[in-house]
Amino acid sequence: MGRKPKNLVQHHVRRQKLKKILQAPKGMPDILSEDDFYRRKIFRTVENLADYYNFDRIETPILEESQVFLHGTGPTSEIVQKQMFNLRTPGGDHLSLRPEFTPNIIRAYLENGLFNLSKPIKLFTYGPLFRYEQPQRGRFRQFWQYDFEIIGDEDPIYDALIIQLFYNSFLDLKIKDLLIEVNTIGCDNCRPLWHKQLKSYFHSRLKKLCPDCQRRYKTNILRILDCKNENCQPLKENAPKMLDYLCRDCHNHFKTLLEYLEELGLPYAINHTLVRGLDYYTKTVFEIRETTDNLALCGGGRYDYLTEVLGGKHTPAVGAAAGIERLVDVLKKRQPKQDGNYKPKAFLVLIGDLAKKKGLSILEMFRKANIWIAESFGKDSVKSQLRQADRLGAPFALILGQKEAMDDTIILRDMKSGVQEVIALDKITEELKKRFKNGIV
Ligand code: HAM
Repeated sequence: MGRKPKNLVQHHVRRQKLKKILQAPKGMPDILSEDDFYRRKIFRTVENLADYYNFDRIETPILEESQVFLHGTGPTSEIVQKQMFNLRTPGGDHLSLRPEFTPNIIRAYLENGLFNLSKPIKLFTYGPLFRYEQPQRGRFRQFWQYDFEIIGDEDPIYDALIIQLFYNSFLDLKIKDLLIEVNTIGCDNCRPLWHKQLKSYFHSRLKKLCPDCQRRYKTNILRILDCKNENCQPLKENAPKMLDYLCRDCHNHFKTLLEYLEELGLPYAINHTLVRGLDYYTKTVFEIRETTDNLALCGGGRYDYLTEVLGGKHTPAVGAAAGIERLVDVLKKRQPKQDGNYKPKAFLVLIGDLAKKKGLSILEMFRKANIWIAESFGKDSVKSQLRQADRLGAPFALILGQKEAMDDTIILRDMKSGVQEVIALDKITEELKKRFKNGIV
């Protein structure tokens, strides 16, 4: 038997090698440069839209008190019932990793007194969210959304603005083949009657519904309408539609929203079975789908009671969120990365120690001149450095050997023709600019 460590600390100080390489948690993949290329494009698009439509950025913590979601996202939602990552702090607080942005933004709106500002308040954010789901294409346990919310106005023009903004974010990313699916699920005045009708409609069909829908019959009957189970499809074909039970206010709201969408010329369809899976929605609900892959890129709607549920005054609001991984998936397929746009203007080849010493300041000189050059500071041979330049598609190589380093010169090599010229080091950025300007490359 080996000697027992004197204490735990000593035990941990000893270096221990793991037997296997550890893996990221299931459904939480690392984000590497291939995806990052598209993600940055998405973030730029989102920032531009936020600037244009005047939304302020808000950042809420990744952890929130679990109550925010239990009450906000709602007790009958799938997220609260099955998908929360919950933890207990050493101090005994119950916290959850945020599964969405909406309730946390409303919590922040109330906590920071944003209701004192002139309304509506327009906020946006993007960042990681967590849902304990079975990972599959377009569905992860850690995923990112961008989210826009308009708080403090009930006018359907804001519902239209949110739809327009998300639709435009996809167009700006050059995603076509889009369909806006829209519906209304009424308000506290008219929805109870629809509920009642749905209850009596599904009562006689209860035994034929899938087990999930049998549960939904008791907890949240609306969710039967958007069940994806094949067997449930024919059973809901003739289910009562909310449109037939809307109160006058909800009816006018929906009608006006559709008029705005018509005016904008947006491609929309009313989907009577679209109800969305979160408890807080009222009136408008919508999703925008990419039709080729039938992928929901974003979803949202109006939530006029959420602020009250979280302890504030009645404050109508509307918003939506888009899944960034799903967008990356679509972009990757439809717009393969074209290296052409992402070629360095030149590749710096360094030969020998003296040249290497000057390498960093040359890199800096080009950065200040706003010319993107690539380099390899390793110990590679000239041949392999030139091969790298070729692989990256750099039109020029800048070669610095012992002699050039001493003379303060540099060799400019045209990668296509192989023609080389010696240029004074302090003239090289100008020379390159001149060549690009004259369209030589
Ligand atoms: P949501 O429909 O749950 O809505 O999510 C919005 C979008 O996030 C989805 O359309 C999808 O693109 C993406 N998404 C959802 N779950 C996952 C997942 N597990 N993996 C990858 N992507 C996913 C909300 O979150 C609401 N908070 C939207 C909202 C804002 N409503 C009003 N304001």
